[in-house]
Amino acid sequence: MKVLAIMGSPRRGKNNDTLLDHILKGIQSKEENVSIIRLNANDLNITPCTACDACSKRLGCIQKDGMADLIHSFNEANIILMTSPMYFNSITAQLKALIDRNQAVWSSKYALKHSLIDRYQRRIGYMICTAGAPEHPYGLDGVIPILDLFFKSINADYYGNFFVNNVDERPVYENEEILQKIYRAGQELVMAYHKG
Ligand SMILES: Cc1cc2nc3c(=O)[nH]c(=O)nc-3n(C[C@H](O)[C@H](O)[C@H](O)COP(=O)(O)O)c2cc1C
Repeated sequence: MKVLAIMGSPRRGKNNDTLLDHILKGIQSKEENVSIIRLNANDLNITPCTACDACSKRLGCIQKDGMADLIHSFNEANIILMTSPMYFNSITAQLKALIDRNQAVWSSKYALKHSLIDRYQRRIGYMICTAGAPEHPYGLDGVIPILDLFFKSINADYYGNFFVNNVDERPVYENEEILQKIYRAGQELVMAYHKG
């Protein structure tokens, strides 16, 4: 099983990084043969889509910044984990930039009819999101539609979300209950993947 995990926070070792550690441990506890690619969106330096429309005329993106490798990794992955702190009720700019660059995938399918993504491979997608505020009137309203379209673009079933409020007051690394929950979420993902 191949897992691709993209950490959307610019901060290492904090909430999103910790949740990712624990969900990956949960996955590894249920799946013996697992290869994991774990990336920090902030380090990838993926630049925003410029809407040049080149991808609707020839396959892939003309910007040479590693997005092609990333699309290749999306294609290969069976489980795709995305994480982000909530920034202004949405995801971080780093994560949004790489999601927008999947326009090259949309174009490959719908303009060029030559998909960069193998549509017959099974993939499941999962979103982890943390928020500083104790209560969130809109919940994940700003996040879910973005991830929904993103997972559709790479032909992954959007399996679910893990949302944690109040992390500025009580970080997840001081919250054993949350850490156990996310570990179990990792185990459930493996079972869901095999169930089909
Ligand atoms: C630019 C910025 C915008 C933020 N916007 C929100 C917000 O809209 N709602 C909220 O609850 N927390 C907001 N926060 C707090 C972060 O969501 C919180 O600190 C984060 O989930 C921590 O994740 P990390 O430790 O993995 O970086 C914001 C923080 C920053 C830096």
